[in-house]
Amino acid sequence: MDKFVIRGGNPLLGTVRVSGAKNAALPAMAAALLTDEPVILENIPQVRDIVTERNLLAAMGAEVELGYGRAHHRTTINCGTVNNPEASYDLVKTMRASTLVLGPLVAKFGRARVSMPGGCGIGARPIDLHIKGLESLGAAITQDHGYVEARTDRLRGGHIVFDKITVTGTEDLLMAATLAEGETVMENCAREPEVADLGELLIKMGAHIQGHGTSTIKIKGVTKLHGAKHRIIPDRIEAGTFIIAAAVTGGDLNVTNCDPNHIASLLSKLEEVGVKIVRNHDSVRVIGNGDYKAADIVTEEHPGFPTDMQAQYMTLATQSEGTSIVTENIFENRFMHAQELVRMGANIKIEGRRAIVRGKTPLSAAAVLASDLRASASLVIAALVAEGETIIDRVYHIDRGYERIEEKLRGVGAEIKRLGEVFPKKVAMPAAQTT
Ligand code: EPU
Repeated sequence: MDKFVIRGGNPLLGTVRVSGAKNAALPAMAAALLTDEPVILENIPQVRDIVTERNLLAAMGAEVELGYGRAHHRTTINCGTVNNPEASYDLVKTMRASTLVLGPLVAKFGRARVSMPGGCGIGARPIDLHIKGLESLGAAITQDHGYVEARTDRLRGGHIVFDKITVTGTEDLLMAATLAEGETVMENCAREPEVADLGELLIKMGAHIQGHGTSTIKIKGVTKLHGAKHRIIPDRIEAGTFIIAAAVTGGDLNVTNCDPNHIASLLSKLEEVGVKIVRNHDSVRVIGNGDYKAADIVTEEHPGFPTDMQAQYMTLATQSEGTSIVTENIFENRFMHAQELVRMGANIKIEGRRAIVRGKTPLSAAAVLASDLRASASLVIAALVAEGETIIDRVYHIDRGYERIEEKLRGVGAEIKRLGEVFPKKVAMPAAQTT
């Protein structure tokens, strides 16, 4: 199993470029199921979850060309050949976002069989709201042997009010409603930039949508969607991770190809802590000084502070003077990184959904275990300031969502190397598919 070996102490200096957003690319790839024509997606990140989604679509009969090149990370997906509208447990268990195919499959093929995802390292992660929403659109749903099966002659428009804000739930039903008969109104929708980006792609494919990116979305169903070309938005969580890494290491880093508006709550929190931030049109310069004061955060749905940045912020809190209270409101078990940070010298106490972080404590290298994607990122940041050589085990978690993170960090001065098989080279696409 791959490990990272990181020697701390170097400030991050220079320029790092952000890749496309994994969490926008995954629903966009699922959206290709809604049409028989090719959908071309650019700025697809070269991460493991994308390979999983490629395998998922290919197992249904889709033709998926995944090409990575200097200018564009492009995939062309042709779902005109899909003949098996099913997502098996083997694939869904490795990536919960696989459930995003449920809505498009039932809308387009009138039938979908998708494995229930079950819980994961960060929480229970049910899909009851996806199911309830599809039922409101007229799908008949049965559940047996760990699978959800949805059937319909044709979905019909409906009124959906989400009991709770859900990102992939909003995306799943948005996709389903594009091919439903009549109008659908969805309220209490997720307002994440990734939802808005999916709406843009669907409009390019011929869907009639208003309000994507706001809490009320209106969709007028059409009988058919067509192919389209779309560029995926930059990954705001990758950008935020580099920004915190630069702050913690006292660096001076230009984080390019990102949208500062997508990380507004994070940037203003960092300014409160004492990090100097310069916002440009599509980049952020972060000037760290190591002189930070504690500030509390509460994770919320967008535009609040993102749960996907909570772990990384916790590492910064260990390096800030005073007590920071980190409240996790989205997932019930997202503090797995705290104990690993404690092993590196942090002073953190967990009380239910709150972590009380007392800083500033020097961090020292240790052997630590990555437990999920964002937890891994927080440990990488901690290792970058820790004294000595930290070994982070199970970095396959980080490969799910960060493109070549060790190369990018090395490029701005970090001492980091990977032990074990090199991802993504080992799973690189055949030369013929490379653009
Ligand atoms: N929830 C339900 N029922 C549902 C769906 C969700 O109770 O049917 C609950 C969840 O248990 C959770 C809350 O609603 O407590 C929010 O979950 P949400 O559905 O919004 O999460 P998700 O769509 O499964 C996406 C991202 C996550 C990110 C969350 C929150 C993708 C592929 N995943 O997950 O990203 O943390 O939204 O912003 O978009 C990551 O990238 O590391 C990651 C975990």
